[in-house]
Order: sequence, then C-alpha cells, then structure tokens
Amino acid sequence: MPRPFYITTAIDYANGAPHLGHAYEKVLADIIARYQRFQGRPVHFLTGLDEHGQKVQQTALKRQLAPQDLVDDIAIVFQEMLKNLNISNDDYIRTTEPRHQEVVQDFLQKLYDQGLIYKGQKTDWYSTRQEQFLTDKDRDENGDWPEIFGEVTQTTEENYYFKLSQFQPWLIEHIQSHPDFINPRFRQKQVLEFLKEPMNDLCISRPKSRLTWGIELPFDRNFVTYVWFDALTNYYSAVAKKGLWPADMHVIGKDILSPPHAVYWPCMLKALNIEPPKQLLVHGWWTINAQKASKSTGNASETLSLVQSHGADAFRFYLCRDMVVGQDADFSIKTFGERYKSELSNNLGNLVNRLLNMVGRSYAGVIPAPNTEDDLEKALKDLWVITERKVIAAFDECQISHAIESLWVFISAMNAYIDTRAPWKLAKSTEASDRAKLESCLAYVAEGLRLAATILSPVMPETCEKLLHNIGADPVKAFAGQLTWSNACVGRKVSERCILFPPIEPKAEATKE
Ligand code: MSP
Repeated sequence: MPRPFYITTAIDYANGAPHLGHAYEKVLADIIARYQRFQGRPVHFLTGLDEHGQKVQQTALKRQLAPQDLVDDIAIVFQEMLKNLNISNDDYIRTTEPRHQEVVQDFLQKLYDQGLIYKGQKTDWYSTRQEQFLTDKDRDENGDWPEIFGEVTQTTEENYYFKLSQFQPWLIEHIQSHPDFINPRFRQKQVLEFLKEPMNDLCISRPKSRLTWGIELPFDRNFVTYVWFDALTNYYSAVAKKGLWPADMHVIGKDILSPPHAVYWPCMLKALNIEPPKQLLVHGWWTINAQKASKSTGNASETLSLVQSHGADAFRFYLCRDMVVGQDADFSIKTFGERYKSELSNNLGNLVNRLLNMVGRSYAGVIPAPNTEDDLEKALKDLWVITERKVIAAFDECQISHAIESLWVFISAMNAYIDTRAPWKLAKSTEASDRAKLESCLAYVAEGLRLAATILSPVMPETCEKLLHNIGADPVKAFAGQLTWSNACVGRKVSERCILFPPIEPKAEATKE
C-alpha cells in the first residue's frame, strides 16, 4: 500500500463569511486530492478553521456572543460552503478542539524545555483604540499615525519569544536543496530574498490582559499563544495520532507564504525535530475589479451564489479554468457566463446530446460498434494520446488550467469531427458504406466523451458521473486502464437526453461590473 498523500489547505479565519478566495483554495486542493485518489493513491485531505485571536474576540464582544458560540456559528457556514462545493475532505480541524490544543501546548512546552522559548521585553508603539502594537509601516505618508489608531503611546510589554533566528542558516540550506519545497518556483526566490536579512525572533504570546481568546502557554498561564504558532500547528495536530506526517502538500495563498509557511512553520518543526512538509503550493489572489477579493470587498461572498444558480461543477470549472496556479486572476461574471455557455453548454453539453439523439434514432439507443477507421477517426484517436499525456502532466504539476485547456482542444476536435462527418446526413443514406461510417462516428464520439469525462472527473465530479452514466459507461473508480481508447461503451444503452448545463443567465448582482 503506498503512503497516503496528505494534503491540506489553509485554515480560514473564523471572523467573517466565506468568499471567493476561500472557495477557490478548497476547490484547488479538492481537485488535487481527487486526482491522486483516481491515480490509486490513498489520500488524506484536511481543511479547517482558525478560531482564535484578537479579531474573533472583538467580533464576539461586538455581537455580545461568547467567542466559542461565535466560532461555532461560523464553522457551520464554512462547512456548508465545503458541502456546496462538493469538497471531499477527510477531516476538518477547528483550532478550539482539544486534539489541537493539546498538541499546541505540547509543542510549546517542548520548545520551552529546550530553552528555545524565552521571555523578553519590547517597547513599541501601541494603539489603545485598536488594541494592537504598531510598526513604522503603519504610519501615513507624513510619518503620522492614521486617525483609526486613536491615541498612540509607547508601551513596554513582556512576552515570550521563539528563537527563530537560530534556524535561519538551516532554512536557507533547506530551501536551496529542496527545489520542490515552494511551488511555483518563482516564489522561492522571494522567500530567499526575504531571508537575506537577519531574522528577528518570533513573539509567540499575548498577555491575557489583552487577549484571552487563545491557547494558554503551559508554562505561564498569564499568557496565550499568538495566532501563527497556534494556526500552523493544525496541520500536525490533526494527524498526530494517525501517523500521516509529513504533509505532502500545503495549499496556501501567496499572502501567507512568507514568513508564516515558508519560515515560521519549517523552523518550528525543525526545532521540534519533526520533518518539514514536502511542498507548499502557493496560489495567487482572485481580484474583483482589480481589488483583492476579501470579506470587505462586498461582493466576494455573493460570487458564491453562482454555485446555487449554476451548480458546483460550473463554478469549480470556471475558477480553475481562469486562474493559472500561482498567478492572480480577475473574477468576471461576464467571462463566467461566456465560458458556461460556450465551453460547457455548447462544446460539451450539446455534443453529448447530439450523440444521444443519433444513437437513439438510428440504433434504438444502443451504441454501435465501429467498423471503419479512416484519417478522421485516426486523427481523433491520435489526438487523444497526446491529450491524455498533456492532461496528466498538467495535473501532476497542479496546473489545472493547463489540463482543462488541453482537454478542450480535444473536445473541440470532437465537435469538428462530428461536423465534418455529418452523421445526420449519413443516417439518411441507404448505402452500406455510409452506415458503416455512421456506426464508427457514433462509436468514436461515445468513446471520446467517455475518455474526456473520465479524465475531467477530478474537476467536475458530479457532471462527469452524470455524463458517463448517460452514455452507458461505468462510473470511474480509478484511472488505471480507463484512459486508453477501448470503445468501452459499445453495446451499452444510452439515455434519451441529458441536460448537463441548463441555460441560465448569471444573476447580475453576483458581481457589480
Ligand atoms: N487563518 C489564516 C491561515 C492559517 S493557515 C495555518 C488565513 N486565513 S484567511 O481566511 O485569511 O485566508 C485563508 C486562505 O484563503 C489563505 O490561503 C488565503 O490566501 C486565501 N485567500 C483569501 N483571500 C483570497 C483571494 N482573494 N484569492 C485567493 N485566495 C485568497 O490567512
């Protein structure tokens, strides 16, 4: 049995509603997880919620809720999103769970016992109104403190620090000697650039006088641990008893690569004598009208209404079709509508119906056997060989948009083939050679669709299952043996018709353009 492929996403902050950015990341990880499963590899797929910290404490106070009640409500909404998007996670971790808190405290105690956590004092600018320390980066262009901070005074605070800086040489060496650690490669350069400057030690605590909503330091009950130390540990705490560490892949956005995932996390693990994760897969940002989609960009959450109107698969398809993993992409309701209509409904949906229609009319719904093969059929078969290779290579590199592009070249070629072959004309002919061509044409299109739906299953699981069912093919359990041209549907009964992508106009309010 191969070792399970352990994949995670970032755990979302429990201080707002889920939006496009959260949805995308979960879909991307889900496609990779499903792909690995189809490749015959056992998978453990983790996602979850980041529930501690100042913001949660403040929001709870504002809403007159206990923080735990607030995060319990938010967890329901985030889990609902996962369900709606058909995310196949095997586990969901919440940082308020005992299984997580125990590991965080165990980590803290171990580091403290080794002398890697010490108490220090720092004098800094502090905003009482925002209850946060400020740095020079927070000043405005005139060097003043912006209005939102209210009165800013110098305050000295005692806190605990993790000796991060002593791991800097090891980390640089690790990144340089593991070129796959940070994917895509260009992000690695940014991290190494950051590491050219000497690092400071990492403040890992907050006094309870300022923050109570967190995990207590086991060696000093007057403090709780600060967000990143708590949050990053989820990847380990969720599988601590399952023996699945190290993670094969952490899927994260570019904003939390450096320093949290590329610096703090590997150094924390190194200090604990635990192997680092194998890869950080770093995606870019979805923007809406050129602004990062976030809970404050009003319509970033509304984009999720497209899941209700058009189905999870259409949404999954669009997100992964229009974003090159690693780059940013601008969300456009117009492009979504266009792709839904042309690529999904016309190119794929209509092709299926053309097939079902003709097989129904000419062969009582049973897919005929192919019995001629001329240049057109041969070209289609050859194109599949190339397509399969390209799609698999793209999936292996987690470049889902490339996989979809390559597959759509094949789907377009099938449409062109059927147009050239014109089976509706052949069906009217009584010539034996025309009947033979008709049989081959229908058999080839059926097989091409079977192959396309099989390989597309990680991206659009429900649609592909429906498609396969409607053309009489077996559901996909694994790719092995299913991706070679084999006329597997010959003799199978097809449905009369199948609506994969009903015509819908995307609601204008989903995004204001
Ligand atoms: N809680 C931290 C992560 C801790 S992981 C140990 C966090 N939460 S978040 O809710 O702000 O973001 C969760 C994930 O969503 C991050 O990977 C982030 O990059 C991603 N996205 C949030 N907005 C995004 C876009 N607009 N576009 C794409 N993904 C972005 O950070």
